Amino acid sequence: MEHKMIVTRTERLNKVCKIIEQYQYRKNNLVPILQSVQLQYEYLPEDIMEFIAASLQIPAAKVYSVASFYTHFALKPKGKYVIKVCNGTACHVKESLPILDKIRTYLKLDEKKNTTDDMMFTVETVSCLGACGLAPVVVINEEVHSLMTLEKVETLFIDLQAEERKENAA
Ligand code: FES
Repeated sequence: MEHKMIVTRTERLNKVCKIIEQYQYRKNNLVPILQSVQLQYEYLPEDIMEFIAASLQIPAAKVYSVASFYTHFALKPKGKYVIKVCNGTACHVKESLPILDKIRTYLKLDEKKNTTDDMMFTVETVSCLGACGLAPVVVINEEVHSLMTLEKVETLFIDLQAEERKENAA
């Protein structure tokens, strides 16, 4: 088991090495490097950020500060279902906040804790999903749910649970 973990870490580092190589070890390419790494892992693991810092010969604190500055970088792993509730102006006016509250309450999450312990759900807010005409909008993974209502939130979770049961039975 331990051996497998070591191999996995080595493999991870090899992939990151290739990404850094592609960007020719240039410090100026830190943002695109982080973007590529996040595409690979869906978030930026702490050890990987330290590895990037060492490879580019910059302080780890610099990498952390860049990663935390840009909201599209995730510093923690996300759940299987990433629920994005739009709180841009159009969605806000159409009551997106009560929808967000209902989703958080249902999953026992809040502003600080945004991922369920079983790693099934992450809830995030976004400023505009570019579908203002369909406000309020919620996106689950890549699927857009438009004209959301509090009632639709319940149906949404019933559907997700059904999907899960189907997956587990397969
Ligand atoms: S404000 Fe929500 S999609 Fe634009």
